Amino acid sequence: MLYLEILGNLPEMARDEVKAMLELAGGEIVSQDYLFLKINADERAFSYLDRLGLAHEYGMLMVEADSVEELLDKAREVEWPIRGTFKVDTETMANCRHSVLDLPRKLGAVIHAQGFKVNLSRPDTLVRVYCGERLYTGIRLRFFDPKDFEKRKAHHRPFFRPISLHPRVSRALVNLTKARRELLDPMMGAGGILMEAGLLGLRVYGVDIRQEMVEGAEMNLRHYGIRDYVLKLGDATRLEELFDKKFEAVATDPPYGTSATLAGRKRDELYQKVLESIYEVLEDGGRLAIAFPTSFDGKAEAERIGFKTLGRYYQRVHKSLERYFYVFEKE
Ligand SMILES: C[S@@+](CC[C@H](N)C(=O)[O-])C[C@H]1O[C@@H](n2cnc3c(N)ncnc32)[C@H](O)[C@@H]1O
Repeated sequence: MLYLEILGNLPEMARDEVKAMLELAGGEIVSQDYLFLKINADERAFSYLDRLGLAHEYGMLMVEADSVEELLDKAREVEWPIRGTFKVDTETMANCRHSVLDLPRKLGAVIHAQGFKVNLSRPDTLVRVYCGERLYTGIRLRFFDPKDFEKRKAHHRPFFRPISLHPRVSRALVNLTKARRELLDPMMGAGGILMEAGLLGLRVYGVDIRQEMVEGAEMNLRHYGIRDYVLKLGDATRLEELFDKKFEAVATDPPYGTSATLAGRKRDELYQKVLESIYEVLEDGGRLAIAFPTSFDGKAEAERIGFKTLGRYYQRVHKSLERYFYVFEKE
């Protein structure tokens, strides 16, 4: 069994991102306790879990219990696979129902009794305790360092536009499509979504109606070492004219309504036409992840065209921008 801690700002989207990766890897979420997921999967899932954007960490689940005493009793029976030195570190989630103040010390003593040395400043192995409805302990295998994503935020890129999504969110959109080979962003802007897809080794295809964006996105992709790309100047409402192929996956973040980014079009009409055009170039069974402001009913429009809605996630960006991220499938 594995455990995985998702991030708290888009929790449903984060959980579905994990679910999508487990569908590719062959595994499943067994239970959820606030941000803590218990996962039935083995090490073959690691390469898929390593793709995640909205995750904090994952590891090997060792013990779960309903009380501190039960946790310690069970921990005594376990052979702890500690490498080098260790430290116990507790995550007290917002729904924590137990008194865990003393737990790191007590659990540390149990593991120490098996012959392992504590090192509080630079441990080789981190033993994690999660407190929610229940108590869990496990060994951290992978931490998703925020710095890895921060360095790709808009203002760190050679071609800067403030319109970009956070790299973690872009990564999640890519993963929600379950892309394995390739991904198209038909309104790529500065290329933030394509960067996240390209870093996963996917072949990326991008379109934008403005030449400066096509050049800027290429600059950004190359800056982050991505070489397997096809970028075109063109209209996202006429994708069939741009490509003589269908796509496994599409992810995009259309403009929200400033005149510059809408290129003179009426917003809702543009959204409808883009959805229709994407439908035409998507493979059967292919997925689309897309953002729309809440004032546009993306679900109704997509379903009218023939898409099936798999997910919808709300995000308030600021006072005048609230949006939904949607995941659709072409049946
Ligand atoms: C919100 S931005 C995309 C931001 C992008 N996800 C990023 O990370 O940089 C939307 C982009 O859609 C482009 N756009 C607007 N209308 C378009 C159309 N009809 N076809 C293609 N691109 C279009 C705009 O030029 C703009 O660059």
